[in-house]
Amino acid sequence: MAVPKGIPADALVLSPSDAEELLQALRRMQLLQPRETPLLTPLSGGVSSLIVRADTVAGPLCIKRALARLKVASLWEAPVRRNRAEVAWLRVAMRVIPGAVPEILGDDAQGNAFAMAWLEPADYPVWKSLLRDGVIEPSTAQAVGHNLVAIHAATAGDAELARAFANDADFHALRLEPYFVEAARKHPACAVALQRLVETTAGTRLALVHGDISPKNILIGARGPVFLDAECAWYGDPAFDLAFCLNHLLLKCVWCPAQRSGYLRCFDMLTASYLGGVNWEPVAALEARACALLAGLLLARIDGKSPVEYITQDAEREHVRRFAIPLLEHSALKLSEIRQRWGSHG
Ligand SMILES: Nc1ncnc2c1ncn2[C@@H]1O[C@H](COP(=O)(O)OP(=O)(O)O)[C@@H](O)[C@H]1O
Ligand SMILES: [Mg+2]
Repeated sequence: MAVPKGIPADALVLSPSDAEELLQALRRMQLLQPRETPLLTPLSGGVSSLIVRADTVAGPLCIKRALARLKVASLWEAPVRRNRAEVAWLRVAMRVIPGAVPEILGDDAQGNAFAMAWLEPADYPVWKSLLRDGVIEPSTAQAVGHNLVAIHAATAGDAELARAFANDADFHALRLEPYFVEAARKHPACAVALQRLVETTAGTRLALVHGDISPKNILIGARGPVFLDAECAWYGDPAFDLAFCLNHLLLKCVWCPAQRSGYLRCFDMLTASYLGGVNWEPVAALEARACALLAGLLLARIDGKSPVEYITQDAEREHVRRFAIPLLEHSALKLSEIRQRWGSHG
């Protein structure tokens, strides 16, 4: 059958049982007419969920259902309830900045699934693809920082949200363990610093964290960035989101060295717009934690359980390690210092 416009050619194949479960979820969400069987087209790129375009009578939509195991080289367990955390995060973000996330069309707790508006890839390119293709707009990074800090500021000090997103065990399983604990296994000399990072991060509960603010999970629409993929949502350390996204911008310099200055400008803009909106704690305190997290994340995305797929050469991995390891031992206090040092890291 023809693949609908905008669907990548390497779209995955859906098993009959997956298709049936998605249909049942769509029916429970009352998004189908009686006896309607929409065309279901899985999207590529997902590692932790089934994410499928459904062409319904009412129009296209996107349905996401959590997988019990993640599709990466070293698998780690993650409970399917992360789908609940994701849809809950999307709803909170929608209240803070309507348009910063896709509209939620339905929610099916029984099937660990939810449905959202279909955002046409031609109108909503993935930021990662733009960055790779040299479409590097510092104003996009500025808008990402602005929206991210607005979500953190709006959720800081909210006891009800802290209870609703007390996903500490899941955040440990999805982030702290596969990234920092695994990196410590590979680098025993850094184990003390990484363990300290795990403890500080786990013990900081200040605002609603997305947990996966990567250019791959941000679509860029005419009215600004749209955040996706909030499966790691957790009430915790907002510095994690900032460091996570900045880390991707630094690693992109290794991916496409010719675009390095553009990525670093994005780093500066994101940092400035984010730090300018921090109003729940002293900026210096947040920035110091972000610096430590950035050092840990640089190493973790090379030697953790989920290495970035675009750094493939041993020499490139060594380049990142030679930068990250001393930074872990002697953490910077300013993000601008890390950026300067990275800019001149030979
Ligand atoms: N609402 C949507 N409309 C159109 N495409 C989407 C939508 N949500 C996700 N996608 C596409 O699917 C990809 C994977 O979605 P994501 O939520 O990040 O899933 P995963 O958890 O599997 O990474 C995105 O990068 C994007 O290309
Ligand atoms: Mg994703």
